[in-house]
Amino acid sequence: MTEQQTVENSAHGRRPVVDFDHNADSHGRDPVGSYRKLRESTPVAWTEKWGGYWVLSGYQAIFDAARDDEMFSSARSHHGGEGQAILIPKRPITDHYPIDLDPPESLPYRRIMNQLLTPQRVEKIRPMVERYTDMFIDDLIEKGEADFATLTGIPSIITIAWLELPLEDWRRYSFAHRKILSAPLDSAEYKMVSEEELPALTESVKKVIAERKLNPGDDPISFILGHEINGRPITEEETLNMVDLIISGGVGTVASLSGQSLEWLSANPEVKQRLIDDPSLMQNAVEEFLRVFSPTQALARTVGKDAEFHGVEIKEGDRALLAWSSGSRDAAGGFENPDVVDIERFPNRHLAFGVGSHRCAGSHLGRLMARTILSKVLERMPDFKVDPAGVVRYPRQGVNTGFDQLPTTFTPGPRVLDERL
Ligand code: HEM
Repeated sequence: MTEQQTVENSAHGRRPVVDFDHNADSHGRDPVGSYRKLRESTPVAWTEKWGGYWVLSGYQAIFDAARDDEMFSSARSHHGGEGQAILIPKRPITDHYPIDLDPPESLPYRRIMNQLLTPQRVEKIRPMVERYTDMFIDDLIEKGEADFATLTGIPSIITIAWLELPLEDWRRYSFAHRKILSAPLDSAEYKMVSEEELPALTESVKKVIAERKLNPGDDPISFILGHEINGRPITEEETLNMVDLIISGGVGTVASLSGQSLEWLSANPEVKQRLIDDPSLMQNAVEEFLRVFSPTQALARTVGKDAEFHGVEIKEGDRALLAWSSGSRDAAGGFENPDVVDIERFPNRHLAFGVGSHRCAGSHLGRLMARTILSKVLERMPDFKVDPAGVVRYPRQGVNTGFDQLPTTFTPGPRVLDERL
């Protein structure tokens, strides 16, 4: 049976039922085709996998669910096991604020996040983003060949430097955040990263937070610690919940977006040349890459009460997957020729950053990092070519898409900085 065939019955009595699993290899081999079939037949469907969940693949259903926090909650609950409720299956990690809360509890944390990540504040760190991107490219450019999958290093080093965490740990963050997104859920690598490496890194962040509490500086962690929640000082634990979310929100996503865009540009040299000839197209191009590559493919919610939703009966406690990537390729979302990559597409109301009260708080920084990485690679390695035979995609592409290996060659060039990684 293919994945999206409608099946007769659901043990839970939900309908329509499909045979679908966003974590399965079959979906991971072709997420775009897999969602297209589902969207065209059953844009709101139930699958029995992982204890049962609704899959929302049509633009309007995703949009409506994401804007209704009462009906589609992001908060942790006992439904579907222990752990972070925006994932299916849930993952038992440290709480993340504001994403693990619903309004109104989420709002004070969200206000702090918004202030920390305004376009003006992000613009101030542009020189740092450019410097680390150049430093990273310097490390590769004399060799004439590189694995572009290691570009995860760039958002990792920038995020760690910006937060003023121990800089020597950037490779650990880069590795852990790539593997947690991509390694098969039953692999030893996934177990090691989720049970040992990420908790160890979290402990190290905890220590820094305690130090900043005693000696505040002009850095993002001190900025968060300086705020109040409902009239009392924010705690160190709440600060950790926010900082941990910032790290996990930005490192893997930007790497995924950059890697997928570069692979596509290598296969589409005429568009690559247009971007080299006219760098002003980059801003719009990144929006289109966000739409078609959607680094965060899908995240989950928990149904708050029994209701009818887009023609189906949903029940309190049901789990639901909102497939941002699928919505962004739905013609009903206003996208003409949605499977065509058009770097001049406008308007482009893609769902890559989500919708509603939890819409990405780091979108300005994410865009700045992605634009800088792509622009600098095109400027400094203009003839780069990815070897399609050596490309290895993440084995699991249900939540995040990207590459484990992206072997690339280019004409060697000179370093531009004296500093080294
Ligand atoms: C291309 C890059 C990025 C993509 C595709 C992306 C995607 C997303 C998506 C889809 C959500 C919505 C989650 C939901 O509704 O359940 C989200 C939320 C969030 N993202 Fe991003 N993100 C990116 C970069 C970043 C960066 C660089 C940061 C940090 C600096 C960041 C921090 C956050 C935070 C804090 C939230 C939670 C907001 C809340 O709960 O109110 N993201 N992101």
